Amino acid sequence: MDLYEYQARDVFEKHGVPVLRGIVATTQAEAKAAAQELGGGTVVVKAQVKTGGRGKAGGVKLAHNPEEAEAHAAEILGMDIKGHTVHRVMIAEGASIAEEYYFSLLLDRAERRYLALASVEGGVEIEQLAVERPEALARVAVDPIAGVDKAKAAEIVSAAGFAPEIADEVAAVIEQLWTAYDEEDATLVEVNPLVRTEAGAIIALDGKVTLDENAAFRHPDHAELVDQAATDPLEAKAKELDLNYVKLDGEVGIIGNGAGLVMSTLDVVAYAGEQQGVKPANFLDIGGGANATVMANGLDVILGDEQVRSVFVNVFGGITACDEVASGIVSALEILGDTASKPLVVRLDGNNVEAGRKILADANHPLVTVVPTMDEAAAKAVELAAAK
Ligand SMILES: Nc1ncnc2c1ncn2[C@@H]1O[C@H](COP(=O)(O)OP(=O)(O)O)[C@@H](O)[C@H]1O
Ligand SMILES: [Mg+2]
Repeated sequence: MDLYEYQARDVFEKHGVPVLRGIVATTQAEAKAAAQELGGGTVVVKAQVKTGGRGKAGGVKLAHNPEEAEAHAAEILGMDIKGHTVHRVMIAEGASIAEEYYFSLLLDRAERRYLALASVEGGVEIEQLAVERPEALARVAVDPIAGVDKAKAAEIVSAAGFAPEIADEVAAVIEQLWTAYDEEDATLVEVNPLVRTEAGAIIALDGKVTLDENAAFRHPDHAELVDQAATDPLEAKAKELDLNYVKLDGEVGIIGNGAGLVMSTLDVVAYAGEQQGVKPANFLDIGGGANATVMANGLDVILGDEQVRSVFVNVFGGITACDEVASGIVSALEILGDTASKPLVVRLDGNNVEAGRKILADANHPLVTVVPTMDEAAAKAVELAAAK
């Protein structure tokens, strides 16, 4: 889960990382009041969207007084930045910046450890710096068990070439950022820019934090950070039902058992529907169990998607045999009753396939068509979705 900058700021503050005061506002009046609360002097009005490059897009603006903050907020609220609509701004204290640096900690999956990136040339697009002047971006491996202690922080600071007079202070901030990364189970903590102010303080002026959702069980407080308004309601419902569901933009609902099978089902449906412009509506892996409740929950979520016109149930019986899954489909349709209103194309194969097909044939449900192969089933599901 990616956090907004104001949430990252709070996380930083909690772990002792020096940040500036900031107040979130959703209207221009609130923005003015926030600027007043911050002392009435210079503030920065910052668009809160989960994408970078806000400054360049006109989403970060300096205001010298509360009236100017109000005017900037009026402009920035509602603005579109790379496809993200701005619903909130953060009114942050204005810093007098002497220098801008870059620092991040991230998960290096390929090397199975963490990686610290640091540069004394921050503020700019870091991807560009990495390509054009890779020598200006220090890369220091971080052992996940050892973490970033004083010595490691000093190593990072020296690799990036920070000036000796600020080295100790930057190293201390890096240690605090490590604490935030480690204790919150983050997979990314990025500070661009980390600044030195005219007064000589080292401050995290921007923050990007990604939390590892797999560790959510260790952090009940992270639930509050979820942006409910921005969450797709079907995805939220699926999450509550413990389903692996991702909403897509097409018309053929997809259910399968096993992530690999579901992904190839998406491909097959996309291919079959290319001519008619029909696409998969979702990813849904109901996993191994595939009992009636799970099947009913899955169908319920998919049928709740107004765009869906047909559903492709693609099951390969392994440990869970086809007859169990077939019974699951029949009971699921009973559970759903009239809610199940769209045609279902079922392809069953694998363990106990004959028994499974017999159960579906005997049930003879008017909405269900059983098709022997995956390609034929995809073609049928596309045909049904295109028909109406
Ligand atoms: N509180 C602040 N005080 C002064 N300048 C700021 C402040 N916050 C941001 N800036 C300036 O605006 C630039 C862009 O802001 P930043 O938060 O990094 O947004 P983004 O990375 O999305 O463009 C920074 O590099 C910095 O120069
Ligand atoms: Mg930035």
